[in-house]
Amino acid sequence: MDDKLLADLAIEAKKTSMPTYSNFHVGAALLTEDGKIYKGGNIEVSSYSLTICAERTALFKAISEGERKFKAIAITSDLDGFCSPCGACRQVISDLCGDIDVILVSPDKKIEKHKMSELLPLAFSEKDLK
Ligand code: THU
Repeated sequence: MDDKLLADLAIEAKKTSMPTYSNFHVGAALLTEDGKIYKGGNIEVSSYSLTICAERTALFKAISEGERKFKAIAITSDLDGFCSPCGACRQVISDLCGDIDVILVSPDKKIEKHKMSELLPLAFSEKDLK
């Protein structure tokens, strides 16, 4: 699947977000190695810290459906520019997806592509627990 299509799906996913308190809408689309897509939006709750980011919504949906191998994740928001994943999501994506492509998407569909290892160098991972 090409980056532009994944970018469009992230923009579509943003419509499902529920940022009740921040009004900051984020969408993510995660591509599995065999070409399936899992979409997610951020979900906020009245106990603010229990909020979940769009990236983790998409990824936990995929993991809970049995997916284990991933290729790329596209992320978008309403920011005039790119929304880069938060520190918590960097750890989770790095841990569960490895060194996948992270495709940042602006509302006007510009794209910036990074490797996960670029966004989280020297990552702690399961190999440290062996
Ligand atoms: N948020 C995401 O969903 N992903 C990010 O990468 C950055 C932040 C959400 C969390 C919260 O609902 C809102 O954006 C403001 O922080």
